[in-house]
Amino acid sequence: MNSERRFRLGLLGSGKGSNFAAIAEACAAGRLPAEVVLVLSDVPDAGILERARERGIRALHLPPGHFRTRLDEAAEAAWIATLQAAQVDLVVLAGFMRILKPPLLRAFPLKIVNIHPSLLPSFPGLEAWKQALEYGVKVTGVTVHLVDHGIDTGPIIAQAPVPIEDDDTPERLHARIQRVEHDLYPAALALLLAGNLKIEGRRTRRT
Ligand code: GRF
Repeated sequence: MNSERRFRLGLLGSGKGSNFAAIAEACAAGRLPAEVVLVLSDVPDAGILERARERGIRALHLPPGHFRTRLDEAAEAAWIATLQAAQVDLVVLAGFMRILKPPLLRAFPLKIVNIHPSLLPSFPGLEAWKQALEYGVKVTGVTVHLVDHGIDTGPIIAQAPVPIEDDDTPERLHARIQRVEHDLYPAALALLLAGNLKIEGRRTRRT
């Protein structure tokens, strides 16, 4: 990928969409040579859809099918077709609460990115900030990584720490983590889109 043109991003989300807003803002401010051309959600009233529509970005609810934690086969084909028709260069997961399966991974090889609210490989899975607090670690953080077939296991693009305070609550910690996410996600996407990242197995490095 090079920095000559504006890359087309397709965002997938199930929640309130604060990372979507940070990415859209970075695009508008010229910090990211990209535009969000499509937002898809499995949740009909997800905030991410509302926020995208407010910005005039195409935002669709696509039914996920009959599974709870992933898209079913027919649904997945529709999601892939919609992303391909929109000619997205990169699929960006922004709070998407379903596990991606091989058909979608194969359709966008090394072109699906996720953000996770911990320093992976610590605390994969749900509510990672609560896991960190309950475990008693003193530092947690944020990870941006490429998506592979595992749960929060793909090659890491960027990480940033968030110290845990003695009297933290899950809500306060999550709010601080989210503020870090909103800087880290656009910066990591910019690095990837600039073509300045070499991926060697699990390891990535700046070129
Ligand atoms: C973020 O905390 C992200 O790390 C996780 O899901 C949350 C999405 O938040 N994967 P938002 O919808 O972007 O506000």
